[in-house]
Amino acid sequence: MSGPRIEALLSQMTLSEKIGQLVMLAAGFSVTGPIIGGDASGAVREGRAGSLLNVFGPGAVRDIQRVAIEQSRLKIPLILGFDVVHGHRTVFPVPLGEAAAFDPTLWEQTARASAREAAADGVALTFAPMLDVSRDPRWGRVVEGAGEDAFVQSLFGAAKVRGFEGESLGESGTVAATVKHFVAYGAASAGRDYASTDMSERTLRETYLPPFQAAIAAGCAAVMPAFSDLSGVPMTANGPLLDGWLRGEAGFRGVVISDYNAVAELVAHGVATDLAEAAALALRAGVDIDMMSGAYEQGLPLALQRGLVTLGEIEASVRRVLELKERLGLFDDPMRGLGADGAAPLMAAHRELAREAARRSAVLLRNRGDILPLSERPQRIALIGPLADAPTDMMGSWSGAGEARDSVTVLDGLRAARPDCDIGHARGVGVDEADESGPDAALALAREADLVILAIGEARDMSGEAASRTGLDLPGDQANFARAVLDLGRPTVVLLSSGRPLAVPWLFERAGAVLATWFLGSEAGHAVADLLTGRASPSGRLPITWPRSVGQVPIFFGERPSGRPASDGHYTSKYIDLPTTPLFAFGYGLTYGRVSYSALGVEPPRPRRGDTITVAVDLFNDGEHPAEETVFLFIRKPVARVARPLLELKGFSRLSLAPGERARTVMALPVSALAFPGPDLRPAVEPGDYEILVGPSADRAQLLRQVVHVEEGGA
Ligand code: BGC
Repeated sequence: MSGPRIEALLSQMTLSEKIGQLVMLAAGFSVTGPIIGGDASGAVREGRAGSLLNVFGPGAVRDIQRVAIEQSRLKIPLILGFDVVHGHRTVFPVPLGEAAAFDPTLWEQTARASAREAAADGVALTFAPMLDVSRDPRWGRVVEGAGEDAFVQSLFGAAKVRGFEGESLGESGTVAATVKHFVAYGAASAGRDYASTDMSERTLRETYLPPFQAAIAAGCAAVMPAFSDLSGVPMTANGPLLDGWLRGEAGFRGVVISDYNAVAELVAHGVATDLAEAAALALRAGVDIDMMSGAYEQGLPLALQRGLVTLGEIEASVRRVLELKERLGLFDDPMRGLGADGAAPLMAAHRELAREAARRSAVLLRNRGDILPLSERPQRIALIGPLADAPTDMMGSWSGAGEARDSVTVLDGLRAARPDCDIGHARGVGVDEADESGPDAALALAREADLVILAIGEARDMSGEAASRTGLDLPGDQANFARAVLDLGRPTVVLLSSGRPLAVPWLFERAGAVLATWFLGSEAGHAVADLLTGRASPSGRLPITWPRSVGQVPIFFGERPSGRPASDGHYTSKYIDLPTTPLFAFGYGLTYGRVSYSALGVEPPRPRRGDTITVAVDLFNDGEHPAEETVFLFIRKPVARVARPLLELKGFSRLSLAPGERARTVMALPVSALAFPGPDLRPAVEPGDYEILVGPSADRAQLLRQVVHVEEGGA
């Protein structure tokens, strides 16, 4: 439904101005796609562009918005879009890292802070959050989402949408969220970015669509289709999913924005012969805005002449775009809270949140003999490796408007936290190349040190878009360097930075401690120092299964049972050269405390359909340090009409425990959450037995288990 203002505008618009509202051009700085955007002001003045991407900052925004509202014939303000993926000026941890905090409140807070900064810089819409479930760490974009699980990704997406959009887009400090990439992009074959995807409708409905459903329920303003095709139908032209599922079944009322150049790429996909056909396919499937491909501008007039689209279809999209402009308050305030000095003045207020988020995103994977936290006595520390003092890499793969000069490196953070220690630093080796100085200085420092801290891993551009890898190993010469350091036999803590799990079992076997630090953002160094010194106990948990070898990929906890489960028997579902189990299960992560679980209580034992099951468990920290524990609630339906996964995540809760403290945590599980698509693909709760499994990770050996019987019938 559009209002009188929109109808009045539509009635005055020429065809070219209508199509202009459906065109998004890249202008200015950080162009992300294959086409380099130039000066967009001519197109804006002529009403040939309704939105722009990659323009931010007070000067640029004011200038270009003025062209729209003062010099274009109809004076329609522009929507300015930008990728605020994990922070704007203040950089927060990469999404895969932040997911490890398992805390929707934190996820929302960091999105809110990012929105405030982005809005102050004139951004009205962001291309985030990315909700692509991915079970393939070869795929570089696994770093941009919340990992392998649909439930986590759904909570993450909803929290991000709430954080970006606030109560209403009319409020100051908000930006419209664009959830992406719809849908199944994370299942790219062979983990290769932009490659084809193919899957059953069941997997689509159970795993890949729910995060989008959750984000729509949270009110997301826009959706971006994936570059990829699904079973041969490119998502940019996928009417059954865009128009059928998204706008139909899921009730989405917002704007669909193509990915960068994706409409024109329908020709390369092999479903359109020219831009007119490409434009018609995309528009009719439900794509309102063409980002940067030129297909709508050049192709829609032709498509109209050829009868491939109707004026009514074009106008329906124009209405949706103008409605979004109205929701954003752009007609009344085209500058929308743009700050005189942009985002910069807000950054100081977000440093502490960035530090907290970074602290809670790191995952302690090994801590042999409690080598961490560091001794309180002054020590000689060798902080070596290519990522020890790497301000740019700290920022991660999509650092928005972040600037490396604002990053606190591990070296900065540790020196600030432990001025009493003698902290020597040398790189030893580059991430992907030899370091000019060679490894000798670093090895000499390590040899003399009481403790070695080795900061290694991937550079920030080794994950993210177009950064798929066939190996999950340490790049360059780092493995040799790390082995040489470990051969010295000094107590060694590894800080492992990466945008994906790295399959380096030998490193975990040999190092004293390993902290997965992903890319932790502006406050990385302070946060790592907080954890190393024990000012905070590590609390992050893996949002993705950590394989032993790339050959196990895809590996994830939600797999279905085999008729021949892996065992010592020969003809069972396993490898002859490696165990089937991962190196670390989903949910794994250590704290400095030692937490045990007991007394799982599940009530009622025979719930009915409208009931809520109460799941409670006792936790006890018998360690000497505080613990931040994440408790996972899984279910399994052992017998159903359709074989169900070995584990399904249905909840998690977090709890702080002082040394020696006992506590009981209680989680609610509505019986309706047990529903799954039956043989007809309609979701329903099947009566019968359900296992309720509670524990610290998806490692079944560590889960407490009880069975409830869901009664036939009931509301
Ligand atoms: C990416 C999107 C991004 C867009 C605009 C594309 O290449 O796939 O995720 O939002 O560029 O920067």
